Amino acid sequence: MNVDIGNALASVASPGASRESLERLDEQVADAHERIVAGMEQSEHGYEALNLPERTDPDEIRAAVEPVADAEALITVGIGGSALGAATITDALADESDTEAVYLDNVDPEWVSSHLERLPLEETAINVVSRSGTTAETLANFLVVRDAFEAAGVDWTERTIVTTGESGPLRNLADRHDLPSLKVPDGVPGRFSALSAVGMVAAAVCGHDLEALLEGAAAERESLTGSLFDCPAYAYGATAYALDQRGAAVNAMVPYAESLETFAEWFAQLWAESLGKDDLGQTPARALGVTDQHSQLQLYRAGPRDKLVTFVSPGETDDRSIPDTDVDELAYLGDATLGELLEAEFEATEASLAAAGRPNVRLELEGVDEYELGGLLYGMEAACVLAGELYGVNTFEQPAVEWAKKATRGLLGGGDFEEADAVAEKTELR
Ligand code: PA5
Repeated sequence: MNVDIGNALASVASPGASRESLERLDEQVADAHERIVAGMEQSEHGYEALNLPERTDPDEIRAAVEPVADAEALITVGIGGSALGAATITDALADESDTEAVYLDNVDPEWVSSHLERLPLEETAINVVSRSGTTAETLANFLVVRDAFEAAGVDWTERTIVTTGESGPLRNLADRHDLPSLKVPDGVPGRFSALSAVGMVAAAVCGHDLEALLEGAAAERESLTGSLFDCPAYAYGATAYALDQRGAAVNAMVPYAESLETFAEWFAQLWAESLGKDDLGQTPARALGVTDQHSQLQLYRAGPRDKLVTFVSPGETDDRSIPDTDVDELAYLGDATLGELLEAEFEATEASLAAAGRPNVRLELEGVDEYELGGLLYGMEAACVLAGELYGVNTFEQPAVEWAKKATRGLLGGGDFEEADAVAEKTELR
């Protein structure tokens, strides 16, 4: 991954960060880097995620999925960090796989039913993922999926892989039915677990190259140095932080590839859940090039000066020529390809934001493949860890998420939680 911050500098953009201010910030980056390296060396909670390129064992994952390696479809049941990393990988590489990857994260009953009615369950595998093993949405959806398999006369125990923590209800269930299971690595929070079994079981069932994913991530790990001027991941994390300090409270992630739309969703969770603490953080927004040039670009170019726009340029992808026509006004299109049109729109949008003094950063890939995706996921995680150090927040906790989980369980009678009492009191006040 290459990162171009030229359009985020104060000489081009407002609110931009001057080169001098980034040089001053680099001293803090050096300190943060030392802290990050120490955390990695001691396998501290959260920092351990940056060790995954060396820790994850592709053979173990492939062995666990072996019984369902020929599945026509894979239903992953999980939510948040237990789904979005896997979805980013399999959605980005969907064209390369014969297995359809479906993600049941929401508990919208109509939507869940529509998937279960549509899929050939006898040819479908189930991938249940929950670090805690207690998340109500995941366990409820799993029970519903299991029931649908039983109703269709399909033995779900033959077609299920579980990834969860060392103990908990989901672990107990896996043990009771002797299901193939993998362990969520210790010290790795959900949204940082894409490069562990959590994100890679789905990739394995879909036949993707696990080694290349980890190699791309390892290359990014190698580039972690104590200076934002030498390290693409830190350049991104530090620039986003510096711009937020100057008023860019929103970070719009805009990939210029349909295949990377889910990446923007993954990034939004990473950035929001990790940095949104102590009244600090930068609000992630999601858009897709070129589609959202026709919906959100107006705001990004001429609305409040409170945004950083992050573009992802996918590099070389398959192309398709635009056919000639006998309509003179359209002749220019016949000389181009769809890829060239996309590229022209990207460059025009980037330049138009810069011309309007709107800060933007470009993340550059050399194509959408396993190696580049591994680098992109790892790079953004490292950027986020660095930003967390600069903000001085606890990047790896998510107390607001845990609060809502307990309240939900309590309201449904799944335990005695003071969070549920607080919701009940509020409801009574209405
Ligand atoms: O990043 C996180 O920690 C969260 O988004 C979790 O991944 C999400 O809440 C699901 O939790 P679990 O994996 O315990 O089911």
